[in-house]
Amino acid sequence: MEMEKLVSLCRRRGFLFQSSEIYGGLNGFWDYGPLGVELKRNVKEAWWRDMVSAHDDLATLPGAPSPYEMTGLDCTIIMHPQVWKVSGHFDLFADKMQTCRQCKKLVRADHVADMTRDAEWAQSFAACCFVPKPDGTMSFNSAEAISWAKTRKLGRKLAPGLALVRDPEVTMSWLAEDIENESVTPATLTLPLVLSYMATAQKNETGLQTPCPHCGGDLTEPRDFNLMFESHAGALQSDENKVFLRPETAQGIFVNFKNVIDSSRVKVPVGIAQIGKSFRNEITPRNFTFRSREFEQMEIEFFCHPSQSADWYKFWRDRRMKWWQEIGLAGERLILRDHHADELSHYSTGTADIEYAFPFLPEGEYGELEGIAHRGDFDLRSHMEGKLDPNSCPLEVQKGEDGKPLHKGSGRDLTYRDDITNERFTPHVIEPSAGADRGTLALLCEAYHEDTAPDDKGKEQTRVVMKFHPRIAPIKAAVFPLVKKDGMPEVAQDLYRALKKKFPAFYDEKGAVGRRYRRQDEAGTPYCITVDGQTLQDQTVTMRDRDTLEQVRLKLDDVVAEVERRVTG
Ligand code: GAP
Repeated sequence: MEMEKLVSLCRRRGFLFQSSEIYGGLNGFWDYGPLGVELKRNVKEAWWRDMVSAHDDLATLPGAPSPYEMTGLDCTIIMHPQVWKVSGHFDLFADKMQTCRQCKKLVRADHVADMTRDAEWAQSFAACCFVPKPDGTMSFNSAEAISWAKTRKLGRKLAPGLALVRDPEVTMSWLAEDIENESVTPATLTLPLVLSYMATAQKNETGLQTPCPHCGGDLTEPRDFNLMFESHAGALQSDENKVFLRPETAQGIFVNFKNVIDSSRVKVPVGIAQIGKSFRNEITPRNFTFRSREFEQMEIEFFCHPSQSADWYKFWRDRRMKWWQEIGLAGERLILRDHHADELSHYSTGTADIEYAFPFLPEGEYGELEGIAHRGDFDLRSHMEGKLDPNSCPLEVQKGEDGKPLHKGSGRDLTYRDDITNERFTPHVIEPSAGADRGTLALLCEAYHEDTAPDDKGKEQTRVVMKFHPRIAPIKAAVFPLVKKDGMPEVAQDLYRALKKKFPAFYDEKGAVGRRYRRQDEAGTPYCITVDGQTLQDQTVTMRDRDTLEQVRLKLDDVVAEVERRVTG
């Protein structure tokens, strides 16, 4: 599927519009139209229902170590600034940014952190391109390296070193020269190292860095750019009044952990869930809603005993993958990718991403929908103590010159005491963190189909059909009178009203019935019910299935229950 077709359908049918479009739009901000708002609400409601409100606190789910409880929160977007200092966002939530000397635009520098996920590439690169010599050193086989780079479309992926260099042969000969001057072996070669060789070699050769993607101009050296939006609380625009729009919903849950435990009867293991807006001043928002500056997250912080955290991590990793499959991403485009050991934070014993092969990505690449992270006791401990223990904090920047923490924690006791064993401990946290907008976008991409269906004259025509899972579809049923006479509209309107009491339904009496079907196919409406001449005689209607195009006759009185059974089942 070409992305342009989906983007155009989204605008034409009212799924998504660019924010402030009549003023030329605002980059990185999107509005959900009449169909889009229902679709995204359905994603969020399915998540809330399946994870929180319909969760059975008493049962042990398959794969879970024990029963567990789930509860919810709705925290503010603006929080005490200390939250962001202690969480690390104030000092470290930054992207590398470059400015173009020519067009003055900002460009996000692709940084090494983004690429460490591909550490296995470095190993495969080393295995394929380095040949052991009798004296124990290695020689570099540039022909192999070139074909390795070509097969993996390296030029597109490893942007900084290669963007300028269209000819991988030239790049690889630079790389070969550089490597020969250093004592690099396959064991010591890492992808960041390969990249840095490439970038240095390229710079030495041409004196140029990666050019500006907008105008091809020269870029400044990369510098840090904090992604948090700032504002001021109160009349004074001073530093003391500075506040931040939250870049994640998670911190609201950590700082309320004690409140939830003390005010409700929930016990560890317990998950606290939140859905809400987050804001990141992304340097280059792109790919439709995939990288936006304002977006919604659906996050769970799951608190458990440290001795059980590895099992809970496995449970959540599988449960979350299954959930995305259940709501319509059942195909091969969805994958679960475990992070490589060297990608993990020092405090994490496991992180996995649920990723989708979005059509705007190059073949074989996937974009993250959700991350499931084992965060240990890092967050609760930071909010208690600040960054006191050097082993718990890899972030030197958060310590003052005197070695004391620059950002103090709350000093509150966020440990938990088990009523039964009397044991007091700092719970470990498993964090399944999903994007509502990215999920909605993946469902839109997955739903888009083109096939053929007969028009009103029986001639096969191409049709665009959004094959949403009935539970997620914005409109569940549409009702049409076949013609606008003989009492058919009245019967159809009564049925529409009865359906509308249960879920979003649509009434349409305008134009040929084939056209009306087409419009509902584009909206992704799973069932279209038509009141015709026979209805007036025997009180039956036809119900057309969006995907199979099959039409069945059923009793008028049974329609509401039948549609309800199908869309909730
Ligand atoms: N608390 C952990 C956390 O925020 P994250 O990987 O930065 O982790 C979680 O974000 C999810 O939020 C991502 O998997 C993605 O679905 C969504 N997300 C993050 N940045 C986004 C952006 N700029 N636009 C749209 N969705 C985004």
